[in-house]
Amino acid sequence: MLATGFEATSDPTCIDDSDTIVICVPTPLDGDGTPDLGSVRAAAVTVSEHLRSGSLVVLESTTYPGTTEDTVRPILEQGSGLEAGVDFNLAYSPERIDPGNLEWGLRNTPKIVGGLTPECTERAVSFYEQIVDTVVPTVGLREAEFTKLLENTYRHINIALINEMAVFCHELGIDLWASIDAAATKPFGFQAFRPGPGIGGHCIPIDPNYLSWVAKRVGYRLRFVELAQEVSERMPAYVARRTQDALNRLKKPMNGSHIVLAGVTYKANVSDQRETPAKPLVAHLRRMGADVSFIDSHVDSFVVAGSEVPRILDIGEAVRSADVVVLLQAHDEFIDSTELGEAACILDTSGKFTGDNVDRL
Ligand SMILES: NC(=O)c1ccc[n+]([C@@H]2O[C@H](COP(=O)([O-])OP(=O)(O)OC[C@H]3O[C@@H](n4cnc5c(N)ncnc54)[C@H](O)[C@@H]3O)[C@@H](O)[C@H]2O)c1
Repeated sequence: MLATGFEATSDPTCIDDSDTIVICVPTPLDGDGTPDLGSVRAAAVTVSEHLRSGSLVVLESTTYPGTTEDTVRPILEQGSGLEAGVDFNLAYSPERIDPGNLEWGLRNTPKIVGGLTPECTERAVSFYEQIVDTVVPTVGLREAEFTKLLENTYRHINIALINEMAVFCHELGIDLWASIDAAATKPFGFQAFRPGPGIGGHCIPIDPNYLSWVAKRVGYRLRFVELAQEVSERMPAYVARRTQDALNRLKKPMNGSHIVLAGVTYKANVSDQRETPAKPLVAHLRRMGADVSFIDSHVDSFVVAGSEVPRILDIGEAVRSADVVVLLQAHDEFIDSTELGEAACILDTSGKFTGDNVDRL
């Protein structure tokens, strides 16, 4: 990238010479679950102080509909003395990156773009056409903002649905994984989602809250979103209980048993620990008296409630020392390993392992 002219800088004066400015700062929730647009506002202030006539500003941060027009636009206009849609172009384009996905990246994933005016949309489309194969314009800013929340809320609700099915199918002795594979052969009307130890990352657990927050402002409760949150938040406690059941079958108590968590990131083959369900799981297991360790080549240090979880580096050692191995994320290192399947007892939340020693979620 450096060889082709890319330069990273923290000097905001670079905006003075920029034709296009893309704002892509974090949009978390604050302590009481309210959208925190602090970074978006701060970045917009910085841009406004250096914005010149003729530039294009694009917001990419995930947020609720109305942010670009109602929050970013006035900051840009006030700081620069320029008018959006007249002196400079303003657009929104959601990030659609799926970390760890080797098939779908920035270039071949269609890019949604919506502008304040048709001219703003056109300008933003021309910009993104230089770097992505397919650009999809929307009728306006709010539709582009809503697209991202719609996509993530759809995923959030379907994951929660299948997580609830996992609990229920286990009670009835149904192999849900087999049923999902069978249902997935239907060429229409069904998309396969698979259960897991809980939702994580900075998108799925967070973005739907942006939607329910804005819905509440107009007096509407998005009960689907709230329910999905509730169901998926229960999963770490459920995995702790299933670990206890596994120990029970071995006639061992949770108190004093050694539990090894394999994969503590929020999804397989990435290093991101944000919102990982492994954290509440560790808290549950510790409260039940378990001695918890982890193994994960993507993570050097894993701290829960201020206390470091001991790391095991070698799969063989993890397998030998654990009373139960809980496979949380099916990193390639675990799937490719010949040793993990040798563990006395595996609670597999990924549905990848089979055998008498394996209990699948
Ligand atoms: N990473 C993804 O895969 C992904 C996917 C879809 C959507 N998103 C969305 O994109 C946005 C950014 O996510 P991320 O994962 O890249 O976040 P991140 O925390 O990894 O990176 C954000 C960057 O913004 C910088 N920053 C913060 N405040 C700033 C300011 N005032 N001025 C200039 N820079 C500032 C930070 O230093 C950091 O480098 C979020 O809204 C997120 O929901 C991310």
